[in-house]
Amino acid sequence: MDLTAQQLHRDIELLSRVFLESEAETPILPRFSPEQLREEIEFEIPERGVDHDEVMRRLMAIFDKTPRTATNRFFNQLFGGRDPSATVAEVLSALANNSMYTFKAAGPHILIERELIRHMGLKMGFDDAEGVFAPGGSLSNLTAVLVARDHALEGAGDRGLDGKTLALYTSEDSHYSIPKAAAIVGIGRDNVRSIPVDDLGRMRVDLLRESIERDLADGVIPAMVNATAGTTVPGAFDPLREIAGVTREHGVWLHVDGAYGGSIILSPTHRHLLDGSELADSVAWDAHKMMGVPLTCSVVLFRERGRAAASLSENAEYLFQQDDDDLNPGTRSLQCGRRNDAVKLWAAWQRNGDEGYGERIENLFALARRAREIVDREPRLVLSCESMSVNVCFEVVGKPSDVICQRLDESGKLKVGYGVVGGRRIIRIVFVNPDLTTDDVDQAFAAILEGAAALPEGDNAVEACAAGV
Ligand SMILES: Cc1ncc(COP(=O)(O)O)c(C=O)c1O
Repeated sequence: MDLTAQQLHRDIELLSRVFLESEAETPILPRFSPEQLREEIEFEIPERGVDHDEVMRRLMAIFDKTPRTATNRFFNQLFGGRDPSATVAEVLSALANNSMYTFKAAGPHILIERELIRHMGLKMGFDDAEGVFAPGGSLSNLTAVLVARDHALEGAGDRGLDGKTLALYTSEDSHYSIPKAAAIVGIGRDNVRSIPVDDLGRMRVDLLRESIERDLADGVIPAMVNATAGTTVPGAFDPLREIAGVTREHGVWLHVDGAYGGSIILSPTHRHLLDGSELADSVAWDAHKMMGVPLTCSVVLFRERGRAAASLSENAEYLFQQDDDDLNPGTRSLQCGRRNDAVKLWAAWQRNGDEGYGERIENLFALARRAREIVDREPRLVLSCESMSVNVCFEVVGKPSDVICQRLDESGKLKVGYGVVGGRRIIRIVFVNPDLTTDDVDQAFAAILEGAAALPEGDNAVEACAAGV
């Protein structure tokens, strides 16, 4: 069946109207269990296909029960809101269905991707950045870890680690994608040094230095330091300039995991949190977190050209047939076929401009300040750690954080998550959706307090500390 403009218009109009109206009316749904969903929705793949109108009906049934993540009741993860221009561009890119490996297949979209990489690189302080879009911060980090491995041990991509031991340094609060990447590229999880953090959740540079020097004395090759700009739970920023002092002294690759907090570089008031980013060798930056662009939209940037291609370029004559490699980003990617994540970010950035994004970040900080004030003045709440950015971590005194969050989800009041800070299970509320109002913040806390009041006393001490979501 061909897709006609008329059909597309009818379907999108119907589905999106019903979806958006329903979302506006009911910004959060109660949790539907897998059993309930299986009872109410037909998930089976049919032997014989059904007609398109029936498919639309089934899709509606699914979207009707889909968690709502763009609304004022969603505080659960590090993404939220919905940039209108980006959303439309995303729909269009599905229509065009280009694959981003070659200029031949994607034309102007390759130039869009290059412009974004140039612009984002400049923001980070890279004069002439190389980079590539990847499906999420985890894969951006993985790309950087792979390139860093090859920087530390020439020929590792061809011959493996050749009996050598490489080590990777990252703070104890960093994201789990870092040890995972170490496992994938052959460095190994056991060779990831977990560096303790200070009271604000920042990597202790003195302990980083000691760890690197110990490894050097033992014949281990320090391959990479991962500094986090915006840790997942407390939202802390490692001191990049100080860390770069250590990495440069020892010739170690410095990666900045700015998957979460990279966007803060766009705020004139808060960009100092990333001071020293220009000294990094690579940076991961998710636009699908603080920039309101639909998932997934992540970039890995390299300060020096040629690094990514040296690790990732394969000889594929059937694919890379014309144009120089610069126009064929497939030579710098972990992927072959690759969806177009660039055009939606470009569309959002056209509408917001640098200034609009700066204001967006200011709004997020203002919302977080409001949350912090509530925690400070409400005697039933206790702050878990000072916040450097837009996360506020707290406990309801004497009440179990995990159960509070689960009950709020089940009852369809609020989606908010919990994590671990300082050996205690805490509630983490995050502000990544600038369309929230102070009233939304007040209501979220009212729901938390009301939910907690209905629960018996409980303890939040946990044995092992692990970074969250
Ligand atoms: C600090 C940090 N790095 C990396 C990631 C992974 O990003 P993604 O979910 O886009 O793979 C996250 C996700 O929350 C994160 O907080």
